[in-house]
Amino acid sequence: MLYLLDTADVRAIARCIDLFPLAGVTTNPTLVAREKRPLLDLLTEIRSIIGDRAMLHAQVMAPDAETMFREAARLCDRFGPTLYPKLPVTQQGLKAIRLLADAGFSVTATAIAAPQQALLAARAGASFTAPYVNRIDNNSGDGAGVVAQMVHLFSAFSLPTRVLAASFKNVQQVHAVAMAGAHAATMSPDLLDKVLAHPLTDSGVAGFNKDWAAAFGSGTTILDLIPAAREPAGQRELATTEKPS
Ligand code: E4P
Repeated sequence: MLYLLDTADVRAIARCIDLFPLAGVTTNPTLVAREKRPLLDLLTEIRSIIGDRAMLHAQVMAPDAETMFREAARLCDRFGPTLYPKLPVTQQGLKAIRLLADAGFSVTATAIAAPQQALLAARAGASFTAPYVNRIDNNSGDGAGVVAQMVHLFSAFSLPTRVLAASFKNVQQVHAVAMAGAHAATMSPDLLDKVLAHPLTDSGVAGFNKDWAAAFGSGTTILDLIPAAREPAGQRELATTEKPS
């Protein structure tokens, strides 16, 4: 399962892209509005932080398919082939997904709440389909179950569309969609931190540090205790080019 970051907060993106093996960033209109910045500046900065190879998912806003198509094409034109326009699975959105896929664009169908919506989006040519796991759970549904059914349907009908699970509020939801076979999951920076964190890991590392410090001194590392077998490349080069005085 690929991990993506669901935020438009550039500081959080810079921190997480440095630490985690992320495949990209997803935004939505609410996340973008929260930043209170011109959209072009914001997306340009996000793109410069994550690089051209990482995916960037950004949502279109028009109510009709033709304008959605033009919005999506504008985004792709500005931000390159790893920009995935997000289109909601409304009737107009579904039509726009088909028009965009037919024109060779890779798009993400979003705001999915049921497996049949995802199957229709896949048939329309969506590259990714984004089910909103926590929102489904909060409406007496089974978010991870919807993801499992989507994975099953795409596999059963040999569709190349991938599941990009979204809308998470806890670590167990993320793990449940991974077990259901989701191809990707996007989550907030806070939740991504929690997915990695575990008190047993912290106490294990604290115990190792304490024992090590007692034996070798606080702050000592391997580099202090084992000399390099050979000079690092830079220094070797310096040594050979140095003229004898
Ligand atoms: C998907 O890309 C959406 O941005 C998102 O995951 C929705 O999450 P929310 O339910 O926390 O708003």
